[in-house]
Amino acid sequence: MKEFWNERYSQEAYAYGTEPNAFFKSRIDQLSPGKLLLPAEGEGRNAVYAATKGFEVSAYDWSEAACVKAAKLAEQHQVQIDYQVCSLEHLSFDPAHFDAIAMIYVHFLQPIRSQNLTRLLSLLKPGGSFIFEAFSDKHLDYQERNPSIGGPKDPDFLYSLESLVSALDGYQLIYSAQEETTLSEGAFHQGLAEVVRIHALKP
Ligand SMILES: C[S@@+](CC[C@H](N)C(=O)[O-])C[C@H]1O[C@@H](n2cnc3c(N)ncnc32)[C@H](O)[C@@H]1O
Repeated sequence: MKEFWNERYSQEAYAYGTEPNAFFKSRIDQLSPGKLLLPAEGEGRNAVYAATKGFEVSAYDWSEAACVKAAKLAEQHQVQIDYQVCSLEHLSFDPAHFDAIAMIYVHFLQPIRSQNLTRLLSLLKPGGSFIFEAFSDKHLDYQERNPSIGGPKDPDFLYSLESLVSALDGYQLIYSAQEETTLSEGAFHQGLAEVVRIHALKP
């Protein structure tokens, strides 16, 4: 699987573009700068945007090729990001370290998905923001009509709003929706999709 991502990121072009995800941008633009963690951040489009807004950005991904592209993008924008090539289990941040954590198109299978979410949420400060966007459990219908939308082909990788909200028990939901959106993110996310979006505050 890691080889798949290294191959995807070995091209000159940025697979999901160099602009931040629109929902991520809309949420970051409302927050005061602080410490931000971006799991499975790929080529750095969201990390670099947040760094230009004054956030102290930590990011990780298991793809070496992603890290190279993220470093290049950060250099172009003259910002610093702490980007580690690893998976979540290798990170060593203290609990309650981050003001915000944003998972953008991080599609994992169970039980890794739940384990990751629990661990990530432990790294968030009380009052901190959890920001999330990923393809919904209706995604395969959208993909059939429009293969350019990309994303997982296995339904077990997809998310329902209901399951995510129940995993965020006690959190204050500022924004939560399973809704259609038209993506224009590089070559691999193009067209109409249904996504799950959340912005929640840790109690
Ligand atoms: C669809 S891409 C999203 C990248 C980025 N979040 C964005 O929105 O541009 C999914 C990313 O998950 C990363 N990934 C998948 N499994 C991982 C794991 N176990 N540890 C770290 N990264 C992983 C891949 O390398 C890939 O960069």
